[in-house]
Amino acid sequence: MQVTVSSGNNINGTLVLPLFEGAQTITDNAEGVPVALKSQINRVLSEGDFKGKANSIMSLYGTEGGKAILVGLGKEEKSTTQTYRDAGATVVAQHKKSHDSELTVVFHTSDVDAIIAFSEGMMMRDYKYDIYKKTEEDDEKTPLTARINCNESDASTLSLAIDRASAVVSGVHLSRDLGNCPPNDMYPMAFAEMAEKWADEYDNVKVEVIDYETAKRHGMGGLVAVGMGSSRKPCMVIFTLNGDQKGRHPILVGKGITFDTGGISLKPGANMDEMKYDMGGSATVFGTMQALAAIAYDKKVVGITCMAENMPAANAQRPGDVIKTLSGKTIEILNTDAEGRLVLADGLWKAGTDFDAEYIIDFATLTGACVVALGHEATGLWSNDDDFRTRIHETSKEVGELAWPMPLLPAFEKEMTNSKIADTRNLGAGRYGGANTAAAFLKQFVPQRGEGDDAEDIPWAHMDIAGTYWGAKTNKMVNHGATGVHVRTLVKFITGE
Ligand code: BES
Ligand code: MN
Ligand code: ZN
Repeated sequence: MQVTVSSGNNINGTLVLPLFEGAQTITDNAEGVPVALKSQINRVLSEGDFKGKANSIMSLYGTEGGKAILVGLGKEEKSTTQTYRDAGATVVAQHKKSHDSELTVVFHTSDVDAIIAFSEGMMMRDYKYDIYKKTEEDDEKTPLTARINCNESDASTLSLAIDRASAVVSGVHLSRDLGNCPPNDMYPMAFAEMAEKWADEYDNVKVEVIDYETAKRHGMGGLVAVGMGSSRKPCMVIFTLNGDQKGRHPILVGKGITFDTGGISLKPGANMDEMKYDMGGSATVFGTMQALAAIAYDKKVVGITCMAENMPAANAQRPGDVIKTLSGKTIEILNTDAEGRLVLADGLWKAGTDFDAEYIIDFATLTGACVVALGHEATGLWSNDDDFRTRIHETSKEVGELAWPMPLLPAFEKEMTNSKIADTRNLGAGRYGGANTAAAFLKQFVPQRGEGDDAEDIPWAHMDIAGTYWGAKTNKMVNHGATGVHVRTLVKFITGE
């Protein structure tokens, strides 16, 4: 969706009017609104037909002055940037064929952050995944466009900010495209090929693919164990942005299980189709690299995606197996459905040893237990560094993609390192605290920086997006399917704006 800015008063197409609860009239802020439309709007406001409740919508038609969409912002004293983001998304969600495909938004406020958030909401919500549908010619809709009317003095600031938001949204939409792609077409090497093709578009990005044979040779026992039972073999895809920049840089690591059957510890059949989203962590990483490239971010960032398909097969791993990971540490496999942590073990170790990591953040649809704990409302957030975790938590709140602090306790680590025959085990001892034991397991595979007495922790955070990457019904930015969550969190966290 193209959003442009104008310092004029003209209304092109349908007027969009965001209104707080209790607004009685629009006269002050809408000079360009035709008289007939204005009086119709003032009528519904003064008679209380449109109350301005958050995310309520009213369409007005039939005047000589054209059409209007009124959208509620709720109580003014409660409003935040998220209020505006949600309202923008609501307008697009409720947009019908009978409205024009061209919108003009007239705000009550000149608050730049509010206007950007509203635009961001519109752009994010304007997304469909319909490439697998046969469309009739006349079904094809004209793309939505929006124009924001603003003060002349704000026009250039707003225009730049909206272009940047649009670039970031391209990363959110890429993440969704990857997540929504059916698993017959989305398999590890298909993801790798998409990444390679993407890299051709930019001069400052590089994609390296570590294929199955290479992964075996390098000793990536976690990735290999999970992926070997599939005829579509695993791989690791490494994205580098601005690789010529020297010095420490952020590293993102993603879980990329293109389909999770559970393996020999087979999952029940109900809703198993949803396990195509089990590469949501890798989609988050890829989407973020796209967003950063599109805003022309000029510092170095590396993304590592651990791709595998978890299938039951004659050559699949078994419960009882002991595998050796890239770190040299061994894992006793007690349940082949706890596979995400196995591929991440290699990805995290690679991140901390082959690169000069400023910090490492991993993204994974890791546990059903995280969904039990937080529902679809927040991502679980663990870290070995309290300050680092707080900063991520704060950033996630600011962009409206909540990540909630969870505990990384020694007792959980003990539980996961208490195997009779290996260094670690991939399953907790009981059924409780499953999201925490998974995080504590991952911590075993985050290397330190330096050696001996000089060794120090690399700041690391783990984000369990099992509940927020899909099925998040209260997330207004998306209709259904993959949400593309945390691309915006990361862009803000990495770039500082
Ligand atoms: N991909 C699943 C986690 C998941 C479950 C994500 C439901 C989204 C919705 C993961 O690989 C898994 O199967 N985890 C197991 C771990 C258990 C065997 C320790 C789980 O959560 O049940
Ligand atoms: Mn699993
Ligand atoms: Zn999984």
